[in-house]
Parts: sequence; structure tokens; C-alpha cells
Amino acid sequence: MLKRIIKATDEIKDRLIKFRREVHQNPELSGQEEKIAAFVATILEDNDIELQKNVGGHGVVGRLKGFAEGPIVALRADMDALPIEDTKKVDYASKSKGIMHACGHDAHTAILLGVAIVLGKLRNEFKGEVIFIFQPAEESIQGAERMIKDGVLDSTPISAIAALHCLPELEAGKIGHRAGIMTSAADRIAISIKGKSGHASKPQQTVDAVLVSSMVINALHHIVSRRTDPLQPSVISIGTIRGGTAENIIADKVKMTGTVRTLDAKLRQDMPRMIENVIKGITASMNAGYDFDYTFECPSILNNKEVDGEIRRCATDVVGSDNVIELAEPMMGSEDFALFTEKIPGALFRLGTGKPGDHEITPLHSNTFDIDESAIAIGTKILAWWAVSSLKR
Ligand code: NI
Repeated sequence: MLKRIIKATDEIKDRLIKFRREVHQNPELSGQEEKIAAFVATILEDNDIELQKNVGGHGVVGRLKGFAEGPIVALRADMDALPIEDTKKVDYASKSKGIMHACGHDAHTAILLGVAIVLGKLRNEFKGEVIFIFQPAEESIQGAERMIKDGVLDSTPISAIAALHCLPELEAGKIGHRAGIMTSAADRIAISIKGKSGHASKPQQTVDAVLVSSMVINALHHIVSRRTDPLQPSVISIGTIRGGTAENIIADKVKMTGTVRTLDAKLRQDMPRMIENVIKGITASMNAGYDFDYTFECPSILNNKEVDGEIRRCATDVVGSDNVIELAEPMMGSEDFALFTEKIPGALFRLGTGKPGDHEITPLHSNTFDIDESAIAIGTKILAWWAVSSLKR
């Protein structure tokens, strides 16, 4: 079966590169994935795959049944792009001003379409069903939640789910995997500091919200260095701060937003209280008030041990054990695939997309991001082989 998957993939690999370039040239932001959803739907239809559109927004779900009833597995790709200006000098650069596939979701989509085409041709050779989930709005951490709310996992008991994500730091031809925590949780904080306005020359009559904010920011940065376990990674970053109207007026209000990243679930639960305690103490000592809002946005991806093991075995069959790398550490980035792994045993692995021999790595989310397109066929083979192998288990 693996040989047939490899042969069928090699036959369409140029087409998959074309798919990726087509999507790359026409990127759409989170929540606006109309063209790519239509593109995906057309290809699934052409390959005789049962299809559901507009699942949780612009989500598309394909269902491929084998020759007989059996277990069900799912594969997921994300489809949205980022608000970044593409500055690459290639003929497939983005045609949309200020929008770019800088996170490789174009490649993820092309790969999953490849898997659907390949397994579509081989449907008489496996029992069970493969579900293809094309998810919108990953970058805004909304798509997975909306698709789940819209019932994408409901109708049938799915036994396992897998996904991949590009990793430019790893050369094309290699993959990275790990069991357990794969990505950090990402949460949002919003803080308002309330002071009292007045003339900047008479500070004694005021409560300076700008000064209090600076003290709050300073103190928040000591949570990670002094309140949390040094062996337990976490990040608190304030990303925006707005306040004040003129240089000679003391501001009565400052608004800040930020992000909190944690790997440990207990630490994540403790963060709101630790952060609020700092804000409460500092504002009280300065006669200021505050509002504080903590939003739990996206949990960590917890890679299931068995699913990760099966990915490792399948990847070894495709690229050889030397090219299957066990990642020593999780990443502080986050991915809403986590919400699928909360419901179903699942795992996400990293697909190497760096150009071999390239010493200057262009990171994800940068304005010159590109991939070594040989990785597309590799990702297709591994996911297709994983799906068929998992149905047999
Ligand atoms: Ni991404």
C-alpha cells in the first residue's frame, strides 16, 4: 500500500505545487477564506469525495469512504493567510496587497488536497473512512472552535486526528515530532489603568495613569522571573499601550493588551490571579483604579503518544529514520489544532520546509517566507500513509 501511495503522489506532485502556488498568489485573511474554500471544494468534488461546505465559517469537510465500514480517522489543514506584505521576488508572489501566506497554510492545504486525491484513487483498498478538515481562521484562533461548535466531530466517532505544520528551521526531507506538549497555550490580557487627569505642571492634583501603567508593566515582567518556576517556561508580553491626549495633560486612562504563553496547565490556571494581584497592589499604592480581563484563548497541543508513535513509524517509512527527528522541546507558539486534540487522540508534527544548504532561515510570519516545495509530496505521503495505517490498527 505504501508503494501505491508513493507512486500516486509522485504522479501528482507537480499539480500539488501548482495548487500551492495558486493559493499562495491569492491569499485571504482569517474569516475571509471564500476563494480558497471554493477551490478546495471543486477539487474534492472532481475527485468524487463527499463534501460539506460552510462548516464553522468557510470550513470545508470531505468524507472518503473505503470499500467497507470500519474505523474513522481525520486529517486537518488550515487555509488562512496573514496581514503581511509579500516582498518575495518570485512569479508566484501574493497578488493581494498586504496579505500573504507567511505561515505555510497554502502548503498545508495543497498537501491535504493531495492526500484526498491519492486516497480517493485507492479507496477500494482500505476499510473505514477518512475525514478531511479544511479549517478557516487559524491565525485568529477562532476556526477550530467554530468548526467543532458546528458539529464537525459530532456525527461519527473519530478514533484519531493528525495535522502538520511547516518548519523552516528544519530542512525539506526531514520531519520533527514529539509526544506530549507540542505548543504553548496562548491567552489574552486586557488592562485599563484609571487615574485622574489634570495639568501636567500640577501632578499633586492628579493620578497619572501613564506613570502607574509603566510601574504595572515593569512589575508584570517580574512574574516570570520571580513568581514562576524557572523550569516551567512562560511568557508575559504587553503588546499595545494607549493613553494620553497631549504632552501637558496628565492622562486619566491607559489601555494595554498583551499575551500570556504557558506550557503547564496548572501554571496557566494560576496566571490570571498572579497578574491581577500585581495590578491590584500597584494601583492601590498609587490611588489608581483598574479593569482587568483575562481570556483563555487556546490551550496547548497535547500530542497523543500512540498517534505520535504512528506518525513517527509512517514518517520513517517515507523519509527514513535519519530524517525523523524527535523534537527536544515544545514551541512557545500556539495552534488551535489544540482544540481538536482536546476532543480526540491526535498529534501535529513539523514538516521540514527549509531549503537544504540555506544558512539564512526565513522564519514563519516574515515577509519573504517561502518553502522548499519538495516538502509538499513528502507531507502528502506521510499523512496518506498515516491515515491508512491508523485505519488498520
Ligand atoms: Ni500557522
